Amino acid sequence: MKRDKSVTWRREDAASLDLRGMQVAVVGGTGGIGRAFSRFLASRGASVVVVGQTFRDSAIPQIKFVKADLSLMSEAQRVGRALPAETLDAVIFTTGIMAGPKREETAEHIERDMAISYLSRLVILREIAPRLGMGRPAARVKPRVFIMGFPGNGQAGDISDLNAEKSYGRWAAHMNTVAGNEALVLAAARRYRNAGFFGLNPGFIKSDIRSNLFGGRTMLYRFIECMTGLMSASAEEYVERVAPLLVTPDIEGHSGAMFDRKGQAVLPSPKLTESSYADAFIAASEALVSKAGVRVAA
Ligand SMILES: NC(=O)c1ccc[n+]([C@@H]2O[C@H](COP(=O)([O-])OP(=O)(O)OC[C@H]3O[C@@H](n4cnc5c(N)ncnc54)[C@H](OP(=O)(O)O)[C@@H]3O)[C@@H](O)[C@H]2O)c1
Repeated sequence: MKRDKSVTWRREDAASLDLRGMQVAVVGGTGGIGRAFSRFLASRGASVVVVGQTFRDSAIPQIKFVKADLSLMSEAQRVGRALPAETLDAVIFTTGIMAGPKREETAEHIERDMAISYLSRLVILREIAPRLGMGRPAARVKPRVFIMGFPGNGQAGDISDLNAEKSYGRWAAHMNTVAGNEALVLAAARRYRNAGFFGLNPGFIKSDIRSNLFGGRTMLYRFIECMTGLMSASAEEYVERVAPLLVTPDIEGHSGAMFDRKGQAVLPSPKLTESSYADAFIAASEALVSKAGVRVAA
């Protein structure tokens, strides 16, 4: 990944952040990195809504739960409509799985990784983006949306087979979601001026996300997660590094920027900076969502 030297921000100690009064939604905030975000933000005084399947933080009063199966586009649309976008200061998307050895399809006939890790975000984002900031007092920074994936890695995806129907490979299927999330950041940054849109690449973090990749909690999975845990930051360490991005005034005016595991700005993948390509990717994604009987909000 190449550094983006045009975007810099002054590091602030996460422990000194005072986030009282801040309202944040973490879509995928019930597990892994999203959960580390929601717990950290609540510990600094923010009010947090988490969306996911299993709530694990009912003992923390500042964290509220919206239950949803985001493999379904109809559920994503319901969540998008229900979120109080007007008053949110930040939205973080961390929902995700990794495609498994065999192609899995949702009840709406969408490849499962594509549905959960990318298309559900597209549907929610379209519902909330026009409303962001509309019921919020003027502030130093616009509301911010952070989309987590693996941006900056040069993945362009395969627009002609987003549903992995012509051929299936777990990496190719997952890389379609990686490219989609990057396209989503760049297209939203061009489309909506009322908020800032940013990509987050956490690098490798020990979490549950790879369990499906190896077809379950196999010996290989356990070995890889053990090595990942030894060699990389924990979800909590990563969140402490990047949480100040939620509020720093330094990235205002840099909508569309992507940040690596250390929070340094990196350049987007070259193919996705071609606006015609990113737009074609989004159009193909909308067409796939419509197969599920859901119309992506204009
Ligand atoms: N960990 C890494 O090494 C790594 C590397 C690069 C990028 N990333 C990206 O970082 C993001 C977060 O990954 P993670 O490692 O934190 O994964 P994780 O530990 O598996 O957490 C995934 C989150 O997604 C939610 N989720 C999964 N399926 C869902 C469904 N059908 N409906 C609703 N929510 C669902 C989970 O909620 P429930 O538990 O409630 O189902 C959980 O909150 C993903 O975008 C991933 O691609 C991670």
